[in-house]
Amino acid sequence: MDLLKELESLVPELERGLGQASSLSELEELRVAFLGRKGRLARIMSSLPGLAPAERPAVGQKANEIKTALTELFDARKESLDAAREARALARFDPSLPGRAPWRGSLHPTTLVMEEICDIFRELGYDVASGPEVENDHYNFEALNMPPEHPARDMQDTLYITENVLMRTHTSPVQVRTMLSRKPPLAVVAPGKVYRRDSDLTHTPMFHQIEGLLVGHDVSMADLRGTLTAFLRGVFGGETRVRFRPSFFPFTEPSAEVDISCCICGGAGHVNGEPCRVCKTTGWVEILGCGMVDPAVFEAVGYDPEEFTGFAFGLGVERVAMLKYGIGDLRMFFENDVRFLAQFG
Ligand code: DAH
Repeated sequence: MDLLKELESLVPELERGLGQASSLSELEELRVAFLGRKGRLARIMSSLPGLAPAERPAVGQKANEIKTALTELFDARKESLDAAREARALARFDPSLPGRAPWRGSLHPTTLVMEEICDIFRELGYDVASGPEVENDHYNFEALNMPPEHPARDMQDTLYITENVLMRTHTSPVQVRTMLSRKPPLAVVAPGKVYRRDSDLTHTPMFHQIEGLLVGHDVSMADLRGTLTAFLRGVFGGETRVRFRPSFFPFTEPSAEVDISCCICGGAGHVNGEPCRVCKTTGWVEILGCGMVDPAVFEAVGYDPEEFTGFAFGLGVERVAMLKYGIGDLRMFFENDVRFLAQFG
């Protein structure tokens, strides 16, 4: 019977084929050719209906045996190919090679500077305070001597939640909250995020500030000057020169803006004969705003301005980080580029 012979011949043929196959893809080709839906075995089986009924069982049984035999041949060959592949990989594996160190993150430069500044003030006896980023108009403006329609509000336009609730435009409302929840004498710094409607090369809609407030008896401008000078030399180095310029803020009187000698050119205005781009050759850079707490602010929180005096200051953290580390572009702080961030590890 031809069909039985044909079936039996499949086994040695496949053995030969498998002996020559050296890859999994060749193996797969053979599997399709022998066992696939249109493969050799299937083709033989398709002639089964043409046989005399009495012959069919013997052929059918044979076909099943052959199918099992073919499948076993495949499995054995596949196993030996897999084993050979693993052996090759193991031969390449060098257990004496040093491992790859896991990637370690680092603190963001904004966080680093914020912590450094808070540490300096902790040493000076200040507490670290915080307040909400979603703030009431009253704390953000009104209690800070900026009533509705006050022109100083224009400088700090922001994102309003409702008419009276907004993203805080500065950390100064923490001054108000601190004075309401504590009794003088008190000294706090308050780091945190603030929001403004600015967005250009040197402004981002969100940035970080640190607020400072000290209230007690007989606090004077000399205390403010000494404190801020010590603080700025702590951050920018003992050689740093500090100058105070008269300015205006609604919540302080008198008010000042503070400049430090430019830490890029050392105050010379030039670097290697080139004009310094950071201080624009003036030798000074503006670093913070400050002043003596306005009596109107004391009144808003129920402190007697005849009894208490105090000073306050506020500074932008990204600005300090840019000057301290010589970072030229504010946007780098928010792009999350690991090549930038990893430099502060
Ligand atoms: N809040 C001010 C701003 O964002 C900065 C500031 C100036 C804070 C003077 C102060 C201060 O506490 O005394 O522009």
